[in-house]
Amino acid sequence: MAMRAWGLVLLVLGGAARTGTPAPSGCTRIADIAPQYTITYGAAVQGLFDDYATNGGSAGCVDCHFAPPPEPSGGLDLSAGASWAHLVNVPSQADPQFLYVVPGDPLRSLLFLKVNCDNPGVGGRMPLFGYGGGLLPEQQALIYDWIANGALPGTSDTVYRDGFDLRGLVP
Ligand code: HEC
Repeated sequence: MAMRAWGLVLLVLGGAARTGTPAPSGCTRIADIAPQYTITYGAAVQGLFDDYATNGGSAGCVDCHFAPPPEPSGGLDLSAGASWAHLVNVPSQADPQFLYVVPGDPLRSLLFLKVNCDNPGVGGRMPLFGYGGGLLPEQQALIYDWIANGALPGTSDTVYRDGFDLRGLVP
């Protein structure tokens, strides 16, 4: 009897946990963008954090996400030299059941969901309120590819990925 009651409690808790994190929605389609296999974190990904504006303007994630003072938005420091260690295998401050970056698994990485979806599951799409014009689909795809390639701090090793359909999972 006691065992059955516990089973019921766990069932209810499990259900509650699932409904607490709705599937991401309003995501931009990137399936048709040619994958990049060789990505250097510092130049490409950090470059985007520093300044993603391609229309002659200048805007970066680091305009909001930097180390104190003041407190970086969402507790996340994306400045050069700090960003990689703040992202890879690190739990989200807003919802620790998400990791910012799960190497090899973009669709479980909050960083990718936050730049790809209007409703990522935690807060809103980044950059916040389309600051600086937002990210192009190609820039979102770069983050996807970097994570899919293992989220390395240096240059991704494409040897084992060559010929792989990197975007096989993307709708
Ligand atoms: C105008 C300020 C601003 C800009 C620019 C901005 N962010 Fe944010 N970011 C925020 C705020 C505020 C939050 C917390 C609220 C939320 O998640 O919606 C946040 C949250 C986040 C989170 C989740 C933090 C957590 O612990 O859950 C990630 C990841 C993130 N931003 C990534 C980015 C990236 C990548 C860029 C650049 C493409 C970017 N942000 C640009 C203000 C900004």
